[in-house]
Amino acid sequence: MGQKAIDELVRADEGLISRSIFVDDEIFQRELRQVFARAWLFVGHESLVPNPDDYFVSRMGTESVILTRDRQGQIQVMLNSCAHRGMKLCRYDHGNNRTFTCPYHGWSFSTDGKLVERPGELVGVPGHATHYKGELDKKQWGLKTVAQVVNYKGAVWATWDPDAPPFLDYLGNMRLYLDAALDHRDGSPGGSEVIGGVQKWRVKCNWKFAPENFIGDLYHDISHRSVDIVGIGPGGGRGRRDPSVTRSAICFPELGHGLLGRLPFYEEGPYAPQYARYPEVEAYYREVHERRVRTLGSAMRVQTSVGTIFPNMSFHGRQPRTLAVFHPISPTEMEMWRMYLVDKDAPEAVKEAARHYFLRYSGPGGMTESDDMENWTGATEASMGAMSRELYFNYQMGVGHAEPVPEIPGCAVNGEYTEENARIYYRRWAQFMNGWSWDQLMAGAARAKEQAA
Ligand code: FES
Ligand code: FE
Repeated sequence: MGQKAIDELVRADEGLISRSIFVDDEIFQRELRQVFARAWLFVGHESLVPNPDDYFVSRMGTESVILTRDRQGQIQVMLNSCAHRGMKLCRYDHGNNRTFTCPYHGWSFSTDGKLVERPGELVGVPGHATHYKGELDKKQWGLKTVAQVVNYKGAVWATWDPDAPPFLDYLGNMRLYLDAALDHRDGSPGGSEVIGGVQKWRVKCNWKFAPENFIGDLYHDISHRSVDIVGIGPGGGRGRRDPSVTRSAICFPELGHGLLGRLPFYEEGPYAPQYARYPEVEAYYREVHERRVRTLGSAMRVQTSVGTIFPNMSFHGRQPRTLAVFHPISPTEMEMWRMYLVDKDAPEAVKEAARHYFLRYSGPGGMTESDDMENWTGATEASMGAMSRELYFNYQMGVGHAEPVPEIPGCAVNGEYTEENARIYYRRWAQFMNGWSWDQLMAGAARAKEQAA
């Protein structure tokens, strides 16, 4: 499949995206190589591995990886597959260990910086002196480690590609909006933790439907109408949303990231309105808001409702904050993970209220997430047939109406309801699928930076 083929499937400028990219196995295999083996991927949060030797088993694309915090406090990420015959080395979801012993033939690998030169080094081989006659070079047979790993405000990102640009370049000015999710509510950097573990479940849909939805599909709100009507959310009869808040679809066309949110210099209210029923929680948000105003003054503020970092990480940036990642399993199945973030130093009552909110709305049993999953599985299933996969989906809302945002280099806005963000997402996807070099992939962002300077 050549460049022409991808360009025919993704006609983003016209708002046409072939259904086949959501169901085709050849496309899927190419995604694993061109997208997941190259892009920066979200692999976890540092609060999942608070102590030395803690580990958390994550995924990058279809592959299992082990995320550990070594004794020096450094986060390491390595392939969870034994170098001998490939057995899945660690079969728990998380724990505390610095040596991983393979259940198949007993090779062991260590992350202890005192014992080994690099994380994942092979340290134990049963029968090394006898069966192998001491001839096996252990240094050559460690676990494959990622090429680059970054802990950005507690969120851990990694890439297999040594040539990938630094994470912050990859993120560009989308950083402002991701910060809204990762920072403490008083505006100080980081300071958040994941509560209640990680929810993981499988959905019979193509993985791209989810980040596309989170990148700025306000149009699908009709799907959640029943949740609004029953009025049993923390906001009472007002439904899920504060009707006084309008949002914009904001995107970073050269990088493939985007969100629904507010443009800069927006002053967020003193507390999250959905907590009006909980006086202690409301008081907490008022207090941290005042702290933020005192310390940040007139510093630029942005607000994110939901956003996506290309290719497969999305987040809620307002309270309550969540991080989500969509792992490809097959063309027509993904594994969805969700983590819930709160201020680490928040009172228990605040964490408890957040936990209840999360469980009610998000995750496999959440009221809104169930609606979304129904849509994504339905659209995937209905695109699998010989007739339907020949058709294109329509992404024509708002074509030609994007405007630059002068305050934020590289940023564009296109009203509240638009499919611009989805178009820039699939344009980026096509660039990766066409095997663009990093120079090509980052040229647009570099130009935007220069123009702003
Ligand atoms: Fe791990 Fe053989 S597969 S030791
Ligand atoms: Fe939704």
